[in-house]
Amino acid sequence: MRKKKEEVEVVVVLLLVAAVVASLGDLSQDRDALLDFYNAVGSASSNRRLGWNRSAGAGPCDWRGIECSSTGITRIRLPGVGLAGSVPPGSLSSLTSLRVLSLRSNRLGGPFPDLRNCSQLRALYLQDNRFSGRLPPDFSLWPQLLHINLAYNALNGSIPTSIDNLTRLTTLNLENNTLSGGLAPELSLPRLVRFSVANNNLSGPVPRSLQGFSSAAFDGNVLICGPPLTNNPCPITAAPPAIAPAIPPPGRRRRSRGLSSGAIAGIVLGSIAAAVVAALLCCLLVARSRRQRRATGGGNRHVTGDQLVGSKLVFLDPARRGSFDLEDLLRASAEVLGKGSIGTTYKAVLEDGSIVAVKRLKDVTAPPSQFEHNMQLIGGLRHRNVVPLRAYYHSKDEKLLVSDYMPRGSCSALLHGNRGAGRSPLDWPSRLRIADGAAKGLAYIHEQNGGTFVHGSIKSSNVLLAKDFEACVSDAGLAHLLTTNAAATSSRMLGYRAPEVLETRKVTQKSDVYSYGVLLLELLTGRAPTQASLTDEGIDLPRWVQSVVREEWTAEVFDLELMRYHNIEEDLVQMLQLALSCTSVAPEQRPSMRQVMETIEQLRRASSSDGGGGGGGSGSGTGEDTS
Ligand SMILES: *[C@@H]1O[C@H](CO)[C@@H](O)[C@H](O)[C@H]1NC(C)=O
Ligand SMILES: *[C@@H]1O[C@H](CO)[C@@H](O)[C@H](O)[C@H]1NC(C)=O
Ligand SMILES: *[C@@H]1O[C@H](CO)[C@@H](O)[C@H](O)[C@H]1NC(C)=O
Ligand SMILES: *[C@@H]1O[C@H](CO)[C@@H](O)[C@H](O)[C@H]1NC(C)=O
Ligand SMILES: *[C@@H]1O[C@H](CO)[C@@H](O)[C@H](O)[C@H]1NC(C)=O
Ligand SMILES: *[C@@H]1O[C@H](CO)[C@@H](O)[C@H](O)[C@H]1NC(C)=O
Repeated sequence: MRKKKEEVEVVVVLLLVAAVVASLGDLSQDRDALLDFYNAVGSASSNRRLGWNRSAGAGPCDWRGIECSSTGITRIRLPGVGLAGSVPPGSLSSLTSLRVLSLRSNRLGGPFPDLRNCSQLRALYLQDNRFSGRLPPDFSLWPQLLHINLAYNALNGSIPTSIDNLTRLTTLNLENNTLSGGLAPELSLPRLVRFSVANNNLSGPVPRSLQGFSSAAFDGNVLICGPPLTNNPCPITAAPPAIAPAIPPPGRRRRSRGLSSGAIAGIVLGSIAAAVVAALLCCLLVARSRRQRRATGGGNRHVTGDQLVGSKLVFLDPARRGSFDLEDLLRASAEVLGKGSIGTTYKAVLEDGSIVAVKRLKDVTAPPSQFEHNMQLIGGLRHRNVVPLRAYYHSKDEKLLVSDYMPRGSCSALLHGNRGAGRSPLDWPSRLRIADGAAKGLAYIHEQNGGTFVHGSIKSSNVLLAKDFEACVSDAGLAHLLTTNAAATSSRMLGYRAPEVLETRKVTQKSDVYSYGVLLLELLTGRAPTQASLTDEGIDLPRWVQSVVREEWTAEVFDLELMRYHNIEEDLVQMLQLALSCTSVAPEQRPSMRQVMETIEQLRRASSSDGGGGGGGSGSGTGEDTS
C-alpha cells in the first residue's frame, strides 16, 4: 500500500516537473515570437512607453501589456503605444494560447496580421490602425471569438461569409474601412449585441437578422438598402420581400440603440406642440396677471415675494430684483430647450436682449409655504459650479423658475449629440474639466443646509456648460423637494438611479454619489446610461462596465473618441476606478463627494503636470502620433 502511494507521488512530481519544463519551453518560444513582432514594429516612442527589458533571461510575462498563464502568453494589450509598420508573418501566429490581442490605436499597417494558429482568440481589437487589403478568408479558425473590432483601418474586399461560423460573437465593428460587396443574406449571429459596418462601400439588402440594429450601424454605405434604412428601400426587383413580419433577432427584444425615426418625429412634434401650448399659456397668464393687477390696484413693483406670492416674480438675488417682471418674461420669445421629468425648460429672450432660462414645473404637490421655503434654500446656493436660481413665480396653476441661461448646452448634448460625420469629438481635458466642475458643484451642494442638502437628479442633461465651458450643476433639490418620489420613479432618471432608491423611494447624498458615478462612466465610455442596447438586456451602465472589466478588457470600455489621445490611458483607468467605487451597490462603500472632488483634483494636477513637465518627451510623442 505504502509503496504504491510513494509511486503515485513520484509520478505526480515527475508530471509536475514535465509540465514546468514544457511551459518553460513554450514561454521561451513565445518570448522569441514576441520579440520578432516587437523588433519589427517597435519604435522609439513605444520603447519609451513600454520600457521592456529585452536582455537575455528576462521573461516576457513581466513586460508591460503582456499576460501569461502556465501555457504561454494569453493577453497582449498594447493600445496606443506607437507601434508602427507591419506585423511579421509567423510571429504572433505562434502564440497558440493567445486569447486577447489589443493593438488598437497604433500605426500598424500592411496586410491583416497572420493569426492562423491563435485558435484560442476571444477578443481581437485592431481598430484605429492602417491595416489594408482583405480580411482573412476563414474566420472559423477562431471559433471562440467574442469581440472583433477592426474599425478605422483601410481594409478592403468583401466580408467573408465564414464570419457566420462565429456563433459566440457579441461585438462586430467594421466601421470606416473600404469593405465592399454585400452582407450574406443568411448571416445569423445570435449573440451579436454591438454591430456596425458604417462608412464602408457595402451594397445590397440588410440581412433579416441585422434589421434590428439602428440605421446608424449601416450609415455611409450608399448602396445598402432595406430596413432599418427607411429612406433607402431596396429596388422592387431585388430579393422578394419576406412574408413574415420582420422580427428582431433574439437577444435584442426591441431596437438596439439610437432613436427610431418614429421616435425622433415624435420628439419633434412633441416639441412643436409644447411650444404652441407655451404660447397659449403665456396669453392666458398675461390676461390673468392683468386682471390681478387691476384687482390689486395697479400692482406695486416693489412688493416682496413674501407678501404677494401668487402674482409676482419673487427675486432670490437682490442684485437682479426688478430687472424684469413677469410680463417681460411672458412677452419674451421662447424656445423649448428641453423637457424633463419635472417640467419643460424654455430659453427666453427678453426685450432688452438678455437671456434667461425658464422652467415650468409640473406636478408640484408641495404646499405654497413649503414651496417657498425650498425656493429660498435653492436660491441660496451660490457657487461657480451651480446654476443659480434667480427668481420664481408661484400661483395655484403655474410654477415658474428663472435661472441663468447656459449658452453651451448640456454635457449630455456634447457627449451624445451629433455622433457621426461632422461631429467634433469631446477631448479628454474637456471631459476631465466637466467631471471636476460637476464634482465641485455637487460637493458644495452637499455641504449646504447643515450638510443635509441632496441634489436628487444628477445626470448628464443636468450638467450645463457656462460660456467659459465651466460645468455647472442644475436642478438641485427640485426633484426631491417638489414632487413626491419624482426622483425615485422618473423614467428619465433610469440608468442613473442607485439600486437602493428603487426600494426606499428616497434619494440621499449617497444616491447622488451613485448618479455622479454613472455620469463619470458616461464621460469615459461615451455611452448613454439609458441607451436601449443596455436597458433592453436588462443591464445598466455600471454593471456593463464591471462585466467588461471583470473579463479584463478594461481598455475596451473607453469611448473610441478618447483613443486618439495616446498618453491618457493611466488617467482613464484611475477615473474608471473612481467611477466604479461611486457606483458600488452598497451605499456605505461609496466615497463622499468631497473625497471624489479631491481625487479628481489630484488627477487633474497630475495630468496637467505631465503635459507641462514631460514637455520634450510627450510633445514629440504627440507629433509622431499625429503625423
Ligand atoms: C534586465 O534584466 C536583467 C536580467 O534579469 C537584469 O540583470 C538587468 O538589470 C535588467 N535591466 C533593466 C534596465 O532593468
Ligand atoms: C501553426 O501550426 C501548424 C500545425 O501545428 C504548424 O505546422 C505551423 O508551423 C504553425 N505556424 C506558426 C506560424 O507557428
Ligand atoms: C485592396 O487594398 C490593397 C492594398 O492597399 C490594394 O492593392 C488592392 O488593389 C485593393 N483592392 C481593391 C479591390 O480595392
Ligand atoms: C464555416 O464556414 C465555412 C464556409 O464559410 C463552411 O464551409 C463550414 O462548414 C463552416 N463551419 C462550421 C462549423 O459551421
Ligand atoms: C469615418 O468615415 C466617414 C465617412 O467616410 C468620415 O467622414 C470620418 O471622418 C471617418 N472617421 C474617422 C475617424 O476616420
Ligand atoms: C465601391 O464599390 C464599387 C462596386 O461595388 C466600386 O466600383 C467602387 O470603386 C468602390 N469604391 C471605393 C471607394 O472603393
